[in-house]
Amino acid sequence: MVEINLQEIHDLLVTIAHEAGRLMLAATPSHLSSGTKKNCKTNPSFPLPPQKLPHPAADLVTETDQAVEKMVSTRLLSAHPTFKFIGEETYYPGQKLTDSPTFIVDPIDGTTNFVHAFPAFCISLGLAVNKSPVVGVIYNPFLEELYTGIKGKGSFVTRNGLKLRLPLKQEPEPLRDLSTCLVGAEWGSDRTGNNFELKSKVFTKLASSKEQGGAMVHSIRCVGSAALNLVLVAAGQQDVFWEGGCWAWDVCAGWCILVEAGGIMVGGNPGDWEATIEGRKYLAIRGAPSGQKDIVEEMWKVIGDGKMDYES
Ligand code: IPD
Ligand code: CA
Repeated sequence: MVEINLQEIHDLLVTIAHEAGRLMLAATPSHLSSGTKKNCKTNPSFPLPPQKLPHPAADLVTETDQAVEKMVSTRLLSAHPTFKFIGEETYYPGQKLTDSPTFIVDPIDGTTNFVHAFPAFCISLGLAVNKSPVVGVIYNPFLEELYTGIKGKGSFVTRNGLKLRLPLKQEPEPLRDLSTCLVGAEWGSDRTGNNFELKSKVFTKLASSKEQGGAMVHSIRCVGSAALNLVLVAAGQQDVFWEGGCWAWDVCAGWCILVEAGGIMVGGNPGDWEATIEGRKYLAIRGAPSGQKDIVEEMWKVIGDGKMDYES
C-alpha cells in the first residue's frame, strides 16, 4: 500500500475542523429543529428497527450535525477518494470498519450540549488504518480549543494561540488508587434495561464512601461528549473515563490523542484488555509513570460481575 502522509491528513483535518466550528457557531441551536437520531421518521438514514430505539428524548440530532457531516465527507473524500468514511449521521446498521484507511467522524459530539448551548461540544475527526487510530483532531469551537494527535508524533492542545504538548504536566504523578481520581463517566442516551442499571450501580459505588464499600473517587464528571472526555484524560485533567454505549466516531480521534499522551484504552467490561474502536465499551486511563493497570483492575472490580452489552 502507498504510504499515507499522516501529517498532511492532520493538516487537512485541522482546516476542516475550523470550518466546521464556524458552521456550529453560526447556527443558533435553540432555533433549529432537532429530532431524535435513531427515529426513522426524522432521520431516514438511521433505519434502526423500533425495538432498538433508545429513549428518544435523550438522543438528539440537529440540522447542523447533518450539514457539518456533509461538508466534512465531501472535503475528505474529494481529497482522498480511495479512503473509506464512517460518520455518525450517515452510518447504517451493519456498516463495519475494515483495515482500509477510514475517516471516522462525529460532526458534533456533545449534541445535547450544543442544543442547550452548554459549552462542551466539538467536532471529532479520526483516521484509522488497520482498525487502529492514527490521526485525531478534536475542536471545541466555543472554547476555541484544538486537540490533535498523530501516531508516533505526540499529541497537543492549542488554546489562546498557545500549542502545548499533552499531557499538560511534564511529569504526571503516579496513579495510586481510585480514591485519588477524578472520573469521567456518562449516562449515555440509553436509559433503560441492564446497561442503565449497571451504570447506576457503578456510579453509586464509585462515589460512595469506603465505609459503605465504595471507591470514594474525588468526583464524577459527566461532560456530555465522549471525545472531550478522552482529551481531558489525555491532558491529565481527568484521570479516568468509563463509558458503554458510545460509538466509533465518539472515540476514534480521542483514542489517538490519548495514546500519544501516554494514556491507555482498554475495554469497559472487566477483563477486556483488547479494546476495539467499534467495541462500544471503553475505559481510558491517563498517562502516568505507574499505576495505570492497577486503576484498570480497580475499576473493573467496581463493575464486578456486571457486563454492559451493546450491539456493534
Ligand atoms: C454522545 C456523547 C455522550 C455520550 C454518548 C454519545 P453525541 O454523542 O458523546 O457524551 O454519552 O454515548 O453518543 O450524540 O453527542 O454525538
Ligand atoms: Ca454527534
